[in-house]
Amino acid sequence: MPFRNDLFLGRFGLNPRFEDTDLLLDEPVARMIGRRVCRRYGREEVSDGLLETLLAAAQSAPAKSDLQQYSIVVTDKDQQRALSDMIGSMPWIADASRFLVFCADMHRGQRIAELRGKEHVNNTLDTFMNAAVDAALAMMAFITAADFKGLGSCPISAVRAHTAEVCSLLGLPKGVFPVSGLTLGYPTDDGRFTLRLPPSVVVHHGTYDDANLEEDLRAYDARRNRLQPIPPERQMHKDDFGISDDYGWTENTARRLAKRERADFGDFIRAHGFDLE
Ligand SMILES: Cc1cc2nc3c(=O)[nH]c(=O)nc-3n(C[C@H](O)[C@H](O)[C@H](O)COP(=O)(O)O)c2cc1C
Repeated sequence: MPFRNDLFLGRFGLNPRFEDTDLLLDEPVARMIGRRVCRRYGREEVSDGLLETLLAAAQSAPAKSDLQQYSIVVTDKDQQRALSDMIGSMPWIADASRFLVFCADMHRGQRIAELRGKEHVNNTLDTFMNAAVDAALAMMAFITAADFKGLGSCPISAVRAHTAEVCSLLGLPKGVFPVSGLTLGYPTDDGRFTLRLPPSVVVHHGTYDDANLEEDLRAYDARRNRLQPIPPERQMHKDDFGISDDYGWTENTARRLAKRERADFGDFIRAHGFDLE
């Protein structure tokens, strides 16, 4: 674990604003600030007992109105390989000891309403969001617990590039969809920090204020390019946008957002039981 101020520096490329900020970095918080995804796994398997512990941590996350509108699928090795083949470009899915899928789940509430002789009248956009947030919080609690136990993980939203096939492979009924997959295993290296946006961009005091966005982004791009330059051949969507000599996180993000992603997801979700009203 790096020295405490190094940790803040590693995360943001900036020093903390306050002198006593480092004092707040007790060990668990330091581990959280040092977190990074893991895409390289050793052969050691995560035991069933450890997995059960981490799942208990996941289920300890807060859930909206105590409704607990999510489900977690622990895949078997055949399903894990099938998902890895389906996605294609991410070998860490097959390499991981375990692969889980965190799902938003409205179906269970619908069954509960029926079991208790009530009408479920909340097939709404709000429920869709609540269920997705519940699933994401459970996944984050799982990730944090895994990190505390010396394990590495990586969320995999690429499962949503194949939502219909994933629902079929995992037997997800209408009203349940995969929010994210998660690889889990013992890391073979320390990975590396991905520099975050400065807190001045993300954290707003009192009211939303993005007056300095352009300037802050320029400085952020310069910091990232100094530490983690993106080589020209890795610039995104070169065929459409060419090679830029002013390339950084901002251009990368703009290019990504200029291309429609998962355009059929909304139609699938509506056909899969969500009214989104
Ligand atoms: C919801 C979500 C989905 C993600 N999907 C993928 C994915 O499909 N494949 C992958 O390799 N990484 C995926 N990631 C990992 C991000 O790329 C990673 O968190 C980001 O680059 C920052 O790196 P860091 O977490 O190591 O700081 C995902 C992360 C989140 C939160």
